This record gives sequence, C-alpha cells and structure tokens, in this order.
Amino acid sequence: MQRVIGLISGTSVDGIDAALVEISGREMDLAVNLLAAETYSYPPALREQILALCAGVPLSLKDLAALDDAIAAKFAEAALAIQVKHPQPVDLIGSHGQTVYHRPPTAKRLGYTLQLGRGDAIAQQTRIPTVTNMRAADIAVGGQGAPLVSKLDVCLLSHPQKARCVQNIGGIGNLTFLPAQTAQTLPDTLLGWDTGPGNVLLDLAVQHLTNGQQTYDQNGAWAATGKPCTALVDTWLQDNFFYQPPPKSTGRELFGPDYLQQCLATAPAYDLDSADFLASLTELTARSIVDNYRRFLPQMPQEVLLCGGGSHNAYLRQRLQAHLDPIPVRTTTDVGLHADAKEAIAFAVLAYWRWHQIPGNLPAVTGAHRPVVLGDLCIPF
Ligand SMILES: Nc1ncnc2c1ncn2[C@@H]1O[C@H](COP(=O)(O)OP(=O)(O)O)[C@@H](O)[C@H]1O
Ligand SMILES: [Mg+2]
Repeated sequence: MQRVIGLISGTSVDGIDAALVEISGREMDLAVNLLAAETYSYPPALREQILALCAGVPLSLKDLAALDDAIAAKFAEAALAIQVKHPQPVDLIGSHGQTVYHRPPTAKRLGYTLQLGRGDAIAQQTRIPTVTNMRAADIAVGGQGAPLVSKLDVCLLSHPQKARCVQNIGGIGNLTFLPAQTAQTLPDTLLGWDTGPGNVLLDLAVQHLTNGQQTYDQNGAWAATGKPCTALVDTWLQDNFFYQPPPKSTGRELFGPDYLQQCLATAPAYDLDSADFLASLTELTARSIVDNYRRFLPQMPQEVLLCGGGSHNAYLRQRLQAHLDPIPVRTTTDVGLHADAKEAIAFAVLAYWRWHQIPGNLPAVTGAHRPVVLGDLCIPF
C-alpha cells in the first residue's frame, strides 16, 4: 500500500483539485481509499494570466518561466495543505499540472501538449517524489495524450452486468464506455474520448453576460429560467468535431473565447434573451454528449455516471436525463467514487502506476500504438 497525492487543474482553470489516497493492487484488482479531497482556488491574478496564455496572448520565455514557477508553487502548496490533517508520510505525488496548450495529433504529425507546474519544483518544495508530464509518452507513441482517466474508470467502475458510460463534465467533456464485464483482465472493447464542451462555453458566457462578476452558472439556475433554442443548437451541432470519429481530444484551443464569439454572432437571428442563450449553450453540451454516444458507441449504456463540476449543474443534468431517457443518469459518487475528486484520484493512480512501471494509457482510448508507462519521475534532491 502506498499513500499518494493526486493534483490537477483542468481546462476550467477554476482551481487545483487535490486528493490524498491509499492505493494497493495493480489493474483490475486496484483498490483506492480516499482519505481527503480538497479544491484550492487559484489567486485571481494567476488565473487571469493562465487564461490569457490559453487564449493565445504572447508571453516571453522569461514570463513563461515565472508563470511555470508560480503554478508549481501553488501545486506544492496544495500538496502540503492536504497533508495537514493527515500527517503520516506520503510516498508519491502525481501532478497533472495546468494545461496551457493542447494540439491533437493528425495522420502526419504527432500531437503536442504543454502542462505548466514542473515536477522538479514540486518535488523540491514538498520533499516528495513527484510524477508529472503524464501526457507526453502517450503522444510520443501516436496517441491523443487524452483522456487519461479512462483506465482508472475501467479498474474501479466496471460492472459485471451493466454497460456504463462514465461522463466527466469538466471544462471539456469526456467519456469512458465500460462494457459489462466480470473478467479480471482489462476488457478490449472499452472506448473513451473527449465529447466536446463541458462547462467551458457556459462559464465564458456567464462571464461575458455579467461583465466578469460571475464565473459560472451555479446549479444551472440561470439557464433553467430560459428555454433552449433547438434550431440554433442544431446549427452549432454541425461543427466537425462532433462528427469526427474517436479517438479524439480537444481543449480551449477549439472551444474557447473565439468559439463563444461565433455562438454569440449566430444568436441574434433567433431573438433570445440571456437565459435562453445560456439554456441553448447548456443544451449544446447535453446534446453533443448524447449525439456522441449514439454516433460512436457499439451500444447505448445501461447507466450513465457523471463526474466533474458539471455534475452539480442540475439543469444540465435534467437535460441529459431528458435526452437519455430511460437510461438512468447518476453520479460516480452514487456508486462510491467521489465525483469531484475522481480526476485528482486518477493522477494519483497514474503516478502509482509510473512508480510500479505499469502502463497508464489505454490505446483503445487515446489511439496510441501501444500501452506505455506515463510520466516523468522527479526525485527531491
Ligand atoms: N454547483 C455548480 N453548478 C454548476 N456548475 C458547476 C458547479 N460546480 C462546479 N461547476 C462547474 O464545473 C466547473 C469546474 O469543473 P471541473 O470538474 O473542476 O473542471 P476542470 O477539470 O475543467 O477544471 C466550473 O467551472 C463550473 O462551470
Ligand atoms: Mg477544475
């Protein structure tokens, strides 16, 4: 058994999710005991710098180095803070870092991905061996480098009788399809990919509509007072990404401020108020998820398990349920895996797999040519 801390800040750039876990076993016999889960917000100025970089604002290498140090310091602080109430020694940290650029691969060119918050600085500041740069090895063997949580989903959430979809709704949405299975080996029919926008466009729209006073639509309460415009959502759903067969991954490079501007530009013809516009963007997230299932899964799941911040958006959940009926939409928390901490837990487990030289990617999901051990191990000096 090892005690490991997992750290991630996702595409929403809302803060660092940290999980402290005890891990044992290897793959289908993996066991994870969650001791603590916290989210540590970024200071607003740091968040602004990250969002500007993601949006393509030029940055000198000197400023990039300073930003990398600042992010690493926040991740190290998070790792120290989560240990305060659990002082027993921690063996390992798995830190995803903060993605600031992600370019999926093409037939001719490898993908490219950049996460800030370097592991050497985290290891030095926490005195704990730290695994980072988890996506690079998968990309080097032709993969998307994403989604990386799927292997954890397979190991912890497979059901003997029910086919399940685990649907993460972070800034971007991603799913893992888990066929019903009882075998103690990894199934070969599983699938997973990024479905498109999760909360990212909604968050950007709320910021736009409130002049930055609000950052998200809490519980979907604002959107729930509007009505989605089906004709407009249908036009948005024409985007190539939703038709692109898996494996596929995406980020703020596609679903970012420019994309929101395009959505805003197409809206006036439909005479919508702010609530209708937000309801329509929520509908885009819900329908893009369900369209992806209908288009690319071998069968519809018997159960959908939500996780990530969007699982708290009651209106989004209601729209997903309406489109998926009669398939039940629940959360991973309902089946024993903390829906807000799952991504952080995944990066703790990926670090554990790195330590034990067990591959962390699933080629069926990322499109990589083979399973590879993920991450760079940084030892404190
Ligand atoms: N109570 C809530 N109601 C609606 N949306 C929420 C709520 N809590 C979190 N969110 C959404 O979830 C996002 C963060 O989700 P998260 O899983 O951390 O995504 P990421 O992995 O991209 O950081 C927030 O930006 C917000 O849009
Ligand atoms: Mg987050």
